[in-house]
Amino acid sequence: MRLVVVLAVLMGVSGIPDVTISPPTASADTSAHPNSIPETADESEQIEAQTEEGAEEDVMATGELNPNHYPARRAAQVVQHYLNTRYGSPFRLIGVQTVHSGNAEDVTDSRRKYQLELSVNDIISNTTQTCSAELSFTKGKGQQPPEVKASCEELLKIDIKAQEEALYQKYKTSQTLMSAQYLPDSHGHIKPDMEPFWHLGILASSFIMLNESTENTLYNVAQVANITQLTTEEDHLEFDCHTLLHEMVSQEIIHWKMLFTWSPAEGVKVLQMKRLPHRHEREKSPKTN
Ligand SMILES: *[C@@H]1O[C@H](CO)[C@@H](O)[C@H](O)[C@H]1NC(C)=O
Ligand SMILES: *[C@@H]1O[C@H](CO)[C@@H](O)[C@H](O)[C@H]1NC(C)=O
Ligand SMILES: *[C@@H]1O[C@H](CO)[C@@H](O)[C@H](O)[C@H]1NC(C)=O
Repeated sequence: MRLVVVLAVLMGVSGIPDVTISPPTASADTSAHPNSIPETADESEQIEAQTEEGAEEDVMATGELNPNHYPARRAAQVVQHYLNTRYGSPFRLIGVQTVHSGNAEDVTDSRRKYQLELSVNDIISNTTQTCSAELSFTKGKGQQPPEVKASCEELLKIDIKAQEEALYQKYKTSQTLMSAQYLPDSHGHIKPDMEPFWHLGILASSFIMLNESTENTLYNVAQVANITQLTTEEDHLEFDCHTLLHEMVSQEIIHWKMLFTWSPAEGVKVLQMKRLPHRHEREKSPKTN
């Protein structure tokens, strides 16, 4: 539970001034679980996007960035997703703790580059490291996922092999397949033995969030709605997973379904991912797709 709160605080937006944040994800009040979402997730889809004037104006900020403002925070969040796709594990989950400094520049008409100095934290071992990152975004037609370079190798020094191996063996040899729903639940709770699967859901979502990110987005995982282990003869565990991503700028909750694998040797690999339409869209046009 403490991890949950820490993660929420790390992924929260307490550093952003003058922004009104709607529930569910980003309350500064940690007594209510900041990552918890309403029972009916789609409620949040109705929340109107706030006109965050500061955020809009800052969108194309160039030159030195205020480390507490949106442009630097959004870029840092992309670094977080990137680091989780590279280094993440059910026992290693990375959050950006502080942005120290940032710089943005136009490289060409359609490409912008950010440089950041930041502190990242493995929330499970509570290890913090400072590192540098460079990101480049393309815009306009043929927009591509951001390219990120960051190395925070210190985070890899914590030995989690034994825990990974134990988790792998337990679920590889179990007679029954694991399945869980609502991680965390609407009260912000996660059973301790389900935490590794919540982490796995976040890691798999990081591949999507990294790929979907632009200069103007800020993605977090709101909830792993469900995760189910599938049978496989291969040397990994396989999962079907439905996650709810919260995009803070548009205040949208976006549903994704994915199929992914995990093993201590190979880490997380996403085999399939599919964005699902909003529930009201699904109701409006049941025959499309
Ligand atoms: C993490 O470590 C910092 C200092 O290194 C400490 O102040 C903080 O209380 C720790 N947090 C947790 C959740 O253990
Ligand atoms: C990443 O996004 C692009 C569209 O921007 C899409 O064509 C591609 O399939 C996505 N790749 C992955 C791995 O999600
Ligand atoms: C998984 O969660 C989503 C969102 O709450 C729901 O629509 C879907 O039916 C659930 N799937 C399973 C297999 O429980």
